[in-house]
Amino acid sequence: MTKYVGAIDQGTTSSRFIVFDKAGNIVSVAQKEHKQIYPKPGWVEHDPLEILHNTNEVIGAALARADLSASDLVSVGITNQRETTLIWDKATGKPLYNALVWQDTRVDNYVAEYAKNGGQDRFRAKTGLPLASYFSGLKLRWLLDNVEGARAKAEAGEALFGTIDSWLVWNFTGGAKGGVHITDVTNASRTQLMNLATCDWDEDMLKEYGIPRACLPEIRPSSSVYGEITTPTLRGTKLAGILGDQQAALVGQTCFSPGEAKNTYGTGCFMLMNTGTEPVQSKAGLLTTLAYQFDGDKPVYALEGAIAITGALVQWLRDNMKLFDVAPQIEPLAKSVEDNGDVYIVPAFSGLYAPYWKESARGVIAGLTRFATRAHLARAALESTAYQTRDVVEAMEADSGIQLTSLKTDGGMVANELLMQFQADILNVPVIRPKVTETTALGAAYAAGLATGFWSNTDDLRANWQVDKSWEPALAEEKRAHYYKSWKKAVQRSFDWVD
Ligand code: G3P
Repeated sequence: MTKYVGAIDQGTTSSRFIVFDKAGNIVSVAQKEHKQIYPKPGWVEHDPLEILHNTNEVIGAALARADLSASDLVSVGITNQRETTLIWDKATGKPLYNALVWQDTRVDNYVAEYAKNGGQDRFRAKTGLPLASYFSGLKLRWLLDNVEGARAKAEAGEALFGTIDSWLVWNFTGGAKGGVHITDVTNASRTQLMNLATCDWDEDMLKEYGIPRACLPEIRPSSSVYGEITTPTLRGTKLAGILGDQQAALVGQTCFSPGEAKNTYGTGCFMLMNTGTEPVQSKAGLLTTLAYQFDGDKPVYALEGAIAITGALVQWLRDNMKLFDVAPQIEPLAKSVEDNGDVYIVPAFSGLYAPYWKESARGVIAGLTRFATRAHLARAALESTAYQTRDVVEAMEADSGIQLTSLKTDGGMVANELLMQFQADILNVPVIRPKVTETTALGAAYAAGLATGFWSNTDDLRANWQVDKSWEPALAEEKRAHYYKSWKKAVQRSFDWVD
């Protein structure tokens, strides 16, 4: 009987369930968006119960669509938006507050306070991360400080902390009736509470941030049988993989050797390079993070260039500026003009992440004249994704000493051919899109399938990877240099907006 592997992909804007066959092809998929809650400028929340409900719904829908049931799946993996933080009551399963989304900047005052003593990089050696509002540890501290009763419950082990992976795993393995409270090394590495060398919670960091150990999940490898699913649509199926979504894409792109890298174009853009079994400290503004750990193996590390806003800028032009009705319309609109008309958009909506790490930056549109049209804005928006990627690639080359010879891409925005061509032009290296661009879900499926013998080893996975299309650079050097110099000037304009 043919068997498959399933992947829950719980992202920033939607939840999906995808079923894959042994060749890594998609057999069935269902997706549902959830509400983005913006209570104040800079605050972004999700309703954890809505996410749980939607996840269950898409599992049922994807299985029904291909006439499958739980018994057709060997195992299921989970991949998730990282850093998004919540606490819930262990006895009732109710969240104590909405989840604070990774883009949320409400803890920037904590960041400034901690940075006064020792600077932004004071915890980098231990955790691989700069001080920033991005990571979950300070978000958890905010919840403990601001939600009534939360700290007392967390100290007593009556409230549990989790990123979205932990929340889903706990609910899918029994919830208040005995759900397992775990996370994997990749998600744990985004809390700034985990020690990079030991892959365990770091007592000093817990003390610094005032986090009680009693509320934290156990840290597990990314590929391992964690338990059996108890929810109706997947009852009895093994839950066997957890990976943060960007690390999952690295696995889905089969970047298993040091030096191999991928760039995922979604809400934000995240470039990860496998650096092997030793963490590499960044001097150029990248993050040192866990790439994955397969059961019984040593953990593998990565350098990461995280960009907060890329696809989200397209959404913003659609929803807030009403520039077009649906996201794909940005491509013909941008194509209707020859170039950007000297307009640059720096989408520093959540400050600027890699390689700048400027909490106080905010978005700017630079170079406006009366010549500029909505088409130039559309073009500048797409180009900003490519320039931000170049900023990260330059940092990656400086840190790793490895010159990029091509860029493997994936994520929703890679359907945009104008962007892919401009990316090749501005980097001056070929840009490659694989056949399966759902590499995030595929990576989670690979983790779950490796743990349950569906695939024997990483060679099996590499054999599945195929090129769909590549773009060669075709821009004169002079223009490339001019565009990038103007971009850098615009970036300077975005700095230090917030006092
Ligand atoms: O670190 C944030 C990242 O995991 C979010 O990814 O694809 O859900 O926007 P995505």
